[in-house]
Amino acid sequence: MEKKSIRDMDLKGKAILVRCDFNVPMQDGVVQDDTRIKAAIPTIQYLMDQGAKVILCSHLGKPKPDKMTDEEMKDKFSLSPVAQKLSEELGQEVKFADDLTGSSAKQMISELKNGETGLLENTRFDPREEKNDETLSAELADLADGYVNDAFGSAHRAHSSTEGVAQKMKEQGKETALGFLMQKEVEELGAVLENPEEPFVAILGGAKVSSKIGVIENLLEKVDTVVIGGKMATTFLKAKGYDIGQSDYEEDKLDVAKSIMKKAFDKNKEIILPTDLHVAQIAPDTELTPEIVEKAPDKVVNIENGIPDGYQIFDIGEQTLDSYAEVLENAKTIVWNGPLGYTESPKYAKGTETVARFIADRTNAKCVIGGGDSVAAINKIMEEAKNNGEDISKFEQRFHLSTGGGASLEFLEGKKLPGIEAIENKTCRVKSTSQEENKPEERKMCNLERNEN
Ligand code: 3PG
Repeated sequence: MEKKSIRDMDLKGKAILVRCDFNVPMQDGVVQDDTRIKAAIPTIQYLMDQGAKVILCSHLGKPKPDKMTDEEMKDKFSLSPVAQKLSEELGQEVKFADDLTGSSAKQMISELKNGETGLLENTRFDPREEKNDETLSAELADLADGYVNDAFGSAHRAHSSTEGVAQKMKEQGKETALGFLMQKEVEELGAVLENPEEPFVAILGGAKVSSKIGVIENLLEKVDTVVIGGKMATTFLKAKGYDIGQSDYEEDKLDVAKSIMKKAFDKNKEIILPTDLHVAQIAPDTELTPEIVEKAPDKVVNIENGIPDGYQIFDIGEQTLDSYAEVLENAKTIVWNGPLGYTESPKYAKGTETVARFIADRTNAKCVIGGGDSVAAINKIMEEAKNNGEDISKFEQRFHLSTGGGASLEFLEGKKLPGIEAIENKTCRVKSTSQEENKPEERKMCNLERNEN
C-alpha cells in the first residue's frame, strides 16, 4: 500500500516536524560532505513554499548521553554547523534550538513564521531516543501539527524520532507522510525488488560477507547473476579451496559462502568470482593505511596459481573485469553494494572505476547503488570526471545513489523498515483545492473515476 506523501498534507500555517538524516561526516565543527543536506532540500523547500512552519530534527554520530557530559556531546556532535549549511543552501536563515524538546526548542518553534525553518539539536543527546521511549515520542509529537519522515538513511531504526513519534501523531489524529527523498528511495529500490527488468545482475563487494548474507539470499531469488568482488570475495575464494595468501577473510563464514554457492547452483544462478587479482606484499597484522598499501610491492596473479605467501588481495584484475563486462553488457537492472577493491588508495580503486564507467558508457541498465563506501567511491569518480571536463550526465542517468547505508541493505534484504511502516497509508482523502490535482494513478486507486461516472 502506498504511503502518504507531503503533497497530500494540509500545510499552510501548520507546524511540521521533519525527520531528516543529517548524519554527515563532521570535523572540528565543519561539515565534510553535504550530500545528505542537499538531498533534504527539495522537501524542506516544498514545505516552506506551502507556508508551513518547518521544524527539522536528526541524529548525528553516536553520542553516549549516559557516559558523556553535555559539553562533550555538543563539542563533537552538535547539529549547529548543519543549521548554517542549511541556511546557505536555502538562502534563508535556519534557526537553531539548543535542545530537542526543552525550552529552547519550544521558544524557537513559537517564533517560527509561516515559510520559516528551524533545526532542533541532535536527537541522540536524549537517552530516550534510541530506546524509542514513549515519553520522548509524545514530547516530539506535541511540538507540531504533523510529521514528515524524509530520513531514508535512518528508516531501519525504530527510534522515537523515526518511529515512535509517527505513532503518537497518528493517535492524536495528526497527519504523517513521507518526504520526497524518502519517496524516491522507496520507488527506486522498490522497483528493483518488485519489477526488475531482466537480465538482473547484483554486484556485491565491500568488506564482509556477514553484513551481506541477507541481501545475497534475498537477491538470489530474483537476479540472474551475482558478481562478487572486494574483500568479501576472499572468503568465497577460500571456501572454494583457493590459496589466498595473507588476505584477510571471515573464517566463521566459510560455510555460509559454501551454502550460498550451492544454493546458486541449485537455482541455476551464476556466481562470478575474481580470477585474477592485484596483490601487494604487506607484513601480517600491519594496520592498513592508503599510504602503506600504495607503497607496498605489488603484482597481478591468477587465482589458479594461488596468492603467494606474504601477499594480500587489493583489487580485481583485467581478466576478471572482462568476465564482469560480459554479464553487465546486456544487463537491464543492476544492484551494486560495496566497492570492488581497496578504493581508499587510487592504485586499487581502478576495478571499481572501470566497472562504474562500463555501466555508464556501455549499458542501458538502471543501476541502484547502496552502501556508504560504494556511494562515496562513485561520487569520487564523478567528481574527478567533472573536474576533467567530462559530461557526467551519463552517470546521473544510469545510477541511483542511495542515501542509505544500513537502510538500503535492509531494504534489499526484503525487510520492512520501521521508519516507513509507521507512516500512514495514502487514502482517498481529496485535497480541498480540486480533484483535478490527483494524478491518474491516484484517481484510479481511490476509485475517483468510478465515483464520477
Ligand atoms: C547512517 O549513516 O547509516 C544512518 O544515519 C544511520 O546511522 P546509525 O547507524 O548511527 O543509526
